[in-house]
Amino acid sequence: MLRARIAVLVSGGGTNLQALINAEKSGNLKDGEIVLVVSNVAGAYALERARMAEIETLTLVRKELGGRAAFEAKLQEELVSHGVDLIILAGFMSILSADFTAKWPKRIINVHPALIPSFCGKGFYGLHVHEAALAYGVKVTGATVHFVNEIPDGGQIIAQKAVNVEDGDTPEILQKRVMQEAEWVILPEAAQKVSKAIVEGKA
Ligand code: GAR
Repeated sequence: MLRARIAVLVSGGGTNLQALINAEKSGNLKDGEIVLVVSNVAGAYALERARMAEIETLTLVRKELGGRAAFEAKLQEELVSHGVDLIILAGFMSILSADFTAKWPKRIINVHPALIPSFCGKGFYGLHVHEAALAYGVKVTGATVHFVNEIPDGGQIIAQKAVNVEDGDTPEILQKRVMQEAEWVILPEAAQKVSKAIVEGKA
């Protein structure tokens, strides 16, 4: 295999997808190739980012398909037909079932906007994570990239980066700093590391 074929799953603005696209363009994701972007939200801006980068897109809405089992069956079919080797969850706001994750051991990675095991698991997503960190009063937070298994945010950690909390931070300000200083840095790095291991047959 020359390069790992990557599918990126998104739900929103897609700034992490953009970081991956930029990494691929600049040669920092040399062992991976983004071949498909799947959104579970119609009209997500991430889809526009994919189109601008000339990457194939697909929208799969759970409700329209008749529930989680049907959604995951269709997703699985598309991933297989596109020859996908690695799935990257980049702001994907839906939990995948144990049945699904069992089909892709060490082949799904996720970026989470906190230092796992803090502020993670069910209910901790997006801005809520930063609200919780500020409410607790932590002085350091950050981001984590980890493999995805049947436990939400519970798979093996691949990379982490710490970010300081500053006086006067709002959840929005903190979210932006965590993205800029941590997520957009460690997600492409982890994507490259895992892609390389797949290409070399070491993962
Ligand atoms: C990011 O901060 C990502 O870490 C987080 O949602 C945001 C998506 O932004 N993901 C989760 O909370 C998943 N549990 P983006 O769409 O601009 O990449």
